[in-house]
Amino acid sequence: MSTSSETVPDTPPVTAPSTSSKAGRGSTPGTAATPGSPVRGTRLTLTGASLGRPGATALDKVDLDIAPGEILTVVGPSGCGKSTLLRTLAGLLAPLAGGITQDGQPLTGPSADRALVFQEDALLPWRTLRANVELPLAIRGVSRSERREQARSWLERVGLGAQARQLPHRVSGGQRQRVQLARALAGRPRAVLMDEPFGALDAQTRAGMQDLLVEVLQGTGATVVFVTHDVDEALFLGDRIALLRAGGLVAVRDIPRPRERGAHDDPARVALRRDVLTSLGT
Ligand SMILES: Nc1ncnc2c1ncn2[C@@H]1O[C@H](COP(=O)(O)OP(=O)(O)OP(=O)(O)O)[C@@H](O)[C@H]1O
Ligand SMILES: [Mg+2]
Repeated sequence: MSTSSETVPDTPPVTAPSTSSKAGRGSTPGTAATPGSPVRGTRLTLTGASLGRPGATALDKVDLDIAPGEILTVVGPSGCGKSTLLRTLAGLLAPLAGGITQDGQPLTGPSADRALVFQEDALLPWRTLRANVELPLAIRGVSRSERREQARSWLERVGLGAQARQLPHRVSGGQRQRVQLARALAGRPRAVLMDEPFGALDAQTRAGMQDLLVEVLQGTGATVVFVTHDVDEALFLGDRIALLRAGGLVAVRDIPRPRERGAHDDPARVALRRDVLTSLGT
């Protein structure tokens, strides 16, 4: 309630989410921690790891090495263990057996290094969009003026500069997801773990979010693990795609680049898409 009366001149007009603003976004004068400066992506490695809850193994003997800065997408049927995998990478669940490391060191719990984005709206409803984005910056001890500037810049990058002072319930579901993305990236995490973040959005908004995600991730350096039900979303976003089935990790495949929506012409893409759908039993 109180945050909406803050007095920062949030006047600049919105920038469109998908214009090429790569060169222009580092507008924070002379600071090392501009929103666009890259982080060192982290390596996440599971070795012979069994994942799940005690007495209920969801995924057995998973070997998976996620390289710094890559976008790994994860697909698999409902209940197969995608969220379990993500929670394990977040440090919220410990492997039942085997190991998990971050850059070669045992991963023992949650860390601000690894940001989580969920499908459900996790914004604080009583804080303005800007105040929500400022949260991880405050946790990192960034000064008040600096975090204002960075939050404003992040909101502009996701096309919500003009809405910075709104409360979450005053903007759409797609816009709230954009704020969540801005908030996750504002904390300059070395890994971003996303669990069906666009699952509740209509097809058009979703496609726009995919483009926006690609754009805002560019140059961040962060490692990304992105869980989705949607094979085409996974093939569009990923550098690699991991296929899960009840019980385990079936395969990890490289996705041809450059990134293209759909797989209409390229035989390699068509074959990959067919393989993925076949191994998912759809
Ligand atoms: N809190 C919990 N306690 C016990 N078992 C759980 C819990 N959460 C999930 N499970 C079980 O673990 C298995 C994997 O669940 P998980 O949520 O990882 O699947 P998922 O692939 O993310 O599914 P969805 O696509 O529906 O989100 C399921 O069998 C599920 O019933
Ligand atoms: Mg899930």
